Amino acid sequence: MENYLWWRDGVIYQIYPRSFADSNRDGLGDLPGIISRLDYLAELGVDALWLSPIYPSPDRDFGYDVSDYCNVDPRYGSLADFDRLVAGAHARGLRLIMDMVMNHTSDQHAWFQESRSSRDNPKRDWYIWKDQPNNWQASFGGNAWEFDAATGQYYLHLFTKEQPDVNWRNPAVRQAQLGAFRFWMERGVDGFRLDVFNAYFKHPDFPDNPPQFGLRGFDRQRHIYDMDQPEMLPLLNELRRLLDSYPERYSVGETDLATPQKTVSYCGLDKLHAAFSFDFTSHELSFPWNPGWIMAQIARREQTFNAAGVWPTTVMSNHDLPRAASRYCKGENDAQARIAMALLLTLRGTPFMYYGEEIGMRDITLRRSEILDPPGRKYWPFYKGRDGCRSPMQWDAGAQAGFSPARPWLPLHPDYLQRNVAAQQADPGSLLHFTKRLLALRKEYPALRRGDYLPLESAPGTLAYLRSTPEQSVLVAINFKGHPAKFASPDGKWQRLFSSQADSKDPAEALAAHEVRLLIQE
Ligand code: GLC
Repeated sequence: MENYLWWRDGVIYQIYPRSFADSNRDGLGDLPGIISRLDYLAELGVDALWLSPIYPSPDRDFGYDVSDYCNVDPRYGSLADFDRLVAGAHARGLRLIMDMVMNHTSDQHAWFQESRSSRDNPKRDWYIWKDQPNNWQASFGGNAWEFDAATGQYYLHLFTKEQPDVNWRNPAVRQAQLGAFRFWMERGVDGFRLDVFNAYFKHPDFPDNPPQFGLRGFDRQRHIYDMDQPEMLPLLNELRRLLDSYPERYSVGETDLATPQKTVSYCGLDKLHAAFSFDFTSHELSFPWNPGWIMAQIARREQTFNAAGVWPTTVMSNHDLPRAASRYCKGENDAQARIAMALLLTLRGTPFMYYGEEIGMRDITLRRSEILDPPGRKYWPFYKGRDGCRSPMQWDAGAQAGFSPARPWLPLHPDYLQRNVAAQQADPGSLLHFTKRLLALRKEYPALRRGDYLPLESAPGTLAYLRSTPEQSVLVAINFKGHPAKFASPDGKWQRLFSSQADSKDPAEALAAHEVRLLIQE
């Protein structure tokens, strides 16, 4: 394949390790569990795996509170298991991406334990300590400053109080953090997802953030002093030089409060390879799931990413959001989940698929007493947290959905008896087969991976666009409605490449209800 670049041309599959596969009967997924499913992932046709954090963690934010960056939590396995995972993934042509949570550590990290032990401890300045708090708010609720009675100062935490923010202005912190990247690259890791990276640096004078309209305290401020500081760019340059000293390594940033403009400002040949702009993940109210809105979002990001020469990413679901299938589907009908999958896999940009998305897993609903996620516990019933999208993978209709022989850490979705990998593997009309066919087409047709994007006029309730290279054009047409819609293929000789309806061969006939159709011109 000409110029093939795994992170640009491939599809990245996010695994939430706690919920993927449990090998040691403790109800938590683990690394040997993932290893046992590598054949499934390779056969699905994805190209890389992003593991949500697997480091030792007290789990106040389920792994996003790290107490040792260079180790594996014993509940997930050992470094030896990790090495087997890397080898097993690489043997199947799968790359591996680690989640680097470096805006903050756990309060149980040895660094913070030292830092809080006394004001003159050498690690005091590894975190952000002040005599007086400013008005900054934690994104999970409440004040961002916690008073530490033992030493009589406040420390900063932009998330829970068990997640103190590190002081990236301290050169020793910078060295230690970059050392963790090197540690994992030496073990064969191919890339990194940077958790809320654009909050690493805070304004050196700690001014109050100005107010704005919003619901929660955090939303009622403009975050101009607690994130997106200019010092981020030289750090990204340094990180990129480090990554480029190893072959074909990749970085993708989770841009907090992302817009396409902000996102591209962090990407480039001497910065991150990519960053998330979350163009399709808002919730129902602000995101009417209709072709007009989606086309407008695409236009917005196309313009910004093209102007900056940055390669986009596409996300429909992840571990922080209600799943796309829960947002857009009614009941167990998968029509809109197919549409979301088709967009994910045919838009210009690297697709990030979230575990279970390929079978249309839905969010679980929890009673208040069952909620584990800190923001959910705080804001229930206005916000029920993120446990819903983190339920165990539904492998089969057997005990605990084939996830674990033991009771899982979060309840299974009750639909697992019908909705599971085994059932969908046996059903050629399933979402899983639909996903696999699109993944295979992406591999086969360069226009779907690399082609330019060109919007087309289309009938109400539908959308259509071209993905074109000089040699090849693929037309994608999608009918969002439950009734047929007019369709006119553009001039030229088009052939049907794919249809979710599969029976007719005429490329110009009306789109069937909810049809996803791909035509090709070569
Ligand atoms: C990121 C993660 C989220 C986590 C937060 C704090 O937004 O995606 O899961 O809670 O950072 O680390």
